[in-house]
Amino acid sequence: MKVQLKYLMATVLPACILTLNACNHPQSSTTQTTMTDSVPTYKLPDSTGFEQTIDGKKTHLYILKNKNGAEAAITNFGGRLVSLLVPDKTGKMVDVIEGAGSIDDYKKVASAYFGAIIGRYGNRIGKGQFTLEGKEYNLFKNNGPNTLHGGKFGYDHAIWDAKQVDSSTLILTYLSKDMEEGFPGNLDIKVTYQLTDDNGVKIDYEAATDKPTVVNLTNHSYFNLNGAGSGTILNHSVQIFADNYTPVDSTLIPTGKIDPVKGTPFDFAKPETIGARIEDKDQQLINGKGYDHNFVLNQHADTVPVAIIKGDKTGIEMDIYTSEPGIQFYSGNFMDSKNTMKYGNKNDHRTAFAMETQHFPDSPNQPNFPSTELKPGQVYKTSTEYKFKVDK
Ligand code: GLA
Repeated sequence: MKVQLKYLMATVLPACILTLNACNHPQSSTTQTTMTDSVPTYKLPDSTGFEQTIDGKKTHLYILKNKNGAEAAITNFGGRLVSLLVPDKTGKMVDVIEGAGSIDDYKKVASAYFGAIIGRYGNRIGKGQFTLEGKEYNLFKNNGPNTLHGGKFGYDHAIWDAKQVDSSTLILTYLSKDMEEGFPGNLDIKVTYQLTDDNGVKIDYEAATDKPTVVNLTNHSYFNLNGAGSGTILNHSVQIFADNYTPVDSTLIPTGKIDPVKGTPFDFAKPETIGARIEDKDQQLINGKGYDHNFVLNQHADTVPVAIIKGDKTGIEMDIYTSEPGIQFYSGNFMDSKNTMKYGNKNDHRTAFAMETQHFPDSPNQPNFPSTELKPGQVYKTSTEYKFKVDK
């Protein structure tokens, strides 16, 4: 096997330095660490960088496996999906999740929310304020004038209690206390990650409250279907089954309108590459600095995909199923090359994308959007599956 010096210099050595002893410790996974020419054989990260005690709670890296040899790594630090190894068109295992190699490295890129469970309210709440049952609530504004992804200390930083119930299922629980980050009600949350035998990552969310509150839980995984660290996602093709989307102002708060995508760069009814129209002089793309918008899904059920994305190099296709009414397509516009990721690559502009299944942004202030209110006695229950396959 040929290992190029150039590759070692560019990728492996920085990875060793930055992922805390990544090269001195045995791998947590049985996957071999072989390389062919300049392409690494993807592997699960070393678990050492995930073994910490934070606020008196232990963090770990949990490994899920299915019958086909697919593997996922999840940490209870923020409930983050760290890695997912699925086969490409040649059968080679490819890590389709962009992320960091240790908790310390995740903390350095905190504002990107890599792989994390997001709450109490995924996406933005305008002016960090909302009124519920006649009472006004004020939140921490961590995104210009608005609150993003739960505020200062969102669930992406919570240490979740974790229980691996079998080789393919991890249950995470977290009690989000009354008035944590300004949200009312003790919210009891359960998130179940399952690596299914048809190469899907299924995420089931459940929650219950003791006071009226607002809830919008999602997962903020960054995907690169050509493989983490393999470069641009602009040639991925995207199809989103949404006739409408929610346009936003310059601070990314919905205007309240539900507009048709037809005739705009937001029309993904037929597969289009991400890059085809991303630089169009369209006010919405200018506001989002690219795609960073909520699509109003035509159907949301577990029988039909709501979006299909394909990697141009690997042939890996991701089909998304969700019970949620919306999906935030974010094209990695704020990725700024300042941090080092799992494979020694930088978090370069638009080298990964997110598809956050959700209720619409700012729903607590938008009477014409589906409600995100949860009352005592009700059960919050949503489900999303990211399924991976290749054309044979
Ligand atoms: C969400 C937001 C984006 C950006 C990313 C994280 O997807 O909509 O604007 O903040 O999170 O960088």
